[in-house]
Amino acid sequence: MAFENATTGTRSPQRQRSVYLTSAIAALGGLLFGYDTGVISGAQLFLIQTFHLSPQQQELAVSCVLIGAMIGAVIAGRVNDMLGRKKTLIALAILFTLGAILTAFSPTFIFFIILRVIVGIGIGSAASVVPVYISEIAPSQIRGKLVIFQQLAITIGIAVSYWIDLLFARYPLGLLPWQPMFAAAAIPGILLFVGMLVSPETPRWYASKGRWEEARRTLDSIKGADTARELAIIHDAIVIDSSQGTLKELFAPRIRMALVVGVGLAALQQFVGINTVIYYAPIIFRSAGVASANAAILATSVVGVVNVLSTLIALMFVDRLGRRVLLISGCIGMIIGLVILGLVFFVPSLHAAGAGFTLAALIIYIISFAFSMGPVFWLLSAEIFPTRLRAVGAATSTFVNWFCNFLVSVTFLSLVAAISAPYTFWLYAVFGFIALVFCLRLVPETKGKKLEEIEAYWMNGQKWVGVAPQPNTIQPQRGD
Ligand code: BGC
Repeated sequence: MAFENATTGTRSPQRQRSVYLTSAIAALGGLLFGYDTGVISGAQLFLIQTFHLSPQQQELAVSCVLIGAMIGAVIAGRVNDMLGRKKTLIALAILFTLGAILTAFSPTFIFFIILRVIVGIGIGSAASVVPVYISEIAPSQIRGKLVIFQQLAITIGIAVSYWIDLLFARYPLGLLPWQPMFAAAAIPGILLFVGMLVSPETPRWYASKGRWEEARRTLDSIKGADTARELAIIHDAIVIDSSQGTLKELFAPRIRMALVVGVGLAALQQFVGINTVIYYAPIIFRSAGVASANAAILATSVVGVVNVLSTLIALMFVDRLGRRVLLISGCIGMIIGLVILGLVFFVPSLHAAGAGFTLAALIIYIISFAFSMGPVFWLLSAEIFPTRLRAVGAATSTFVNWFCNFLVSVTFLSLVAAISAPYTFWLYAVFGFIALVFCLRLVPETKGKKLEEIEAYWMNGQKWVGVAPQPNTIQPQRGD
């Protein structure tokens, strides 16, 4: 509407492109999130050699970035509001770039860990700042698509990290292979820096600081014709935001169920073990009988590409088939993949057959995760909470997601040592089953629902009721 030509109702392709381009630049933050979490998978085989790591140190090397991400998730909101979205993203770009270069030249393991925690703060911050930036510059008609676009950027970042790992495992440029792997993150870091320098601050942030003239000018440059109307919407949004709810309010009797769904999905998204595959895939391939580090990283890079392509399935079908169909079929697929993966390690003849079965099982698993729990968790966490509690609700589930990510990554190798690989994967399969029951029983279908209808669903004891249309009112939404 505000985005459309007021008289003809048609969209200006010129202006629309600029919103896509600006969103794509900001999504480089998501790409860095994916790259910096994925790069460890190929790098660790070489880190083990350089720093002579024990399994516990290996787990620390993988998961210290998540400690940083938890800190980032907590502090990002405040910094984002203080500095503005644009300056925060510029600061994050500097952090990512310097972090990449310094990590590559870590003289000791401790130095490496400290730098990974610092980069982790960037990742956790980017995970929350990028969607806010995109949602504040995007017109509401395409806002939902752009929210999933962020998950696509994450998976692209992971896939690129695998390919870069593969490249430098073969051609380390005279360095230790892990060094250029980490240093390569400086390139998207610099692109994000330059891109954000020429991107606008969001009109909404200007308005929240009372800088209405700058808000108006930015709107003119991004969205054009309907500036006045858009300013009015922002004005309403700020009125709503200024009375935003607290963490305590999330525990109010009816809303509590939305919290259960948000936090439950956040935890289950990690407890199905996705990041054991994302971070430890080469190690899994090696122990499944793949002979060389390079072959293991090659198999991992196939997994990365499958992850990206399967996320596109979610993009295409989430608004047609709905969230529940994707979640439920994805859970079933993940259980099948994990059961087969356990069998590969359990049955000697399958194990002897080498990497083929392992790759097949991992691909079934990744496809199933990537069109379901991966994007749908982030989407639901942005849409299930009532407007007033949306920011605090989404922040809570995001924090729980990082925390559970940390728990799973830090315990994976120890679990394998304690109960063996098959039982570890079957344990994740049990969580897949819990996730299936959870989705069947508790997750509402929000496809095509207005945010007010979703809010009314919780307030009416989880029953769908019609919400009277409110003419001439545009509900300000984040990530809808
Ligand atoms: C998860 C990440 C995971 C990624 C894999 C995201 O939705 O939150 O933890 O690494 O998907 O694609």
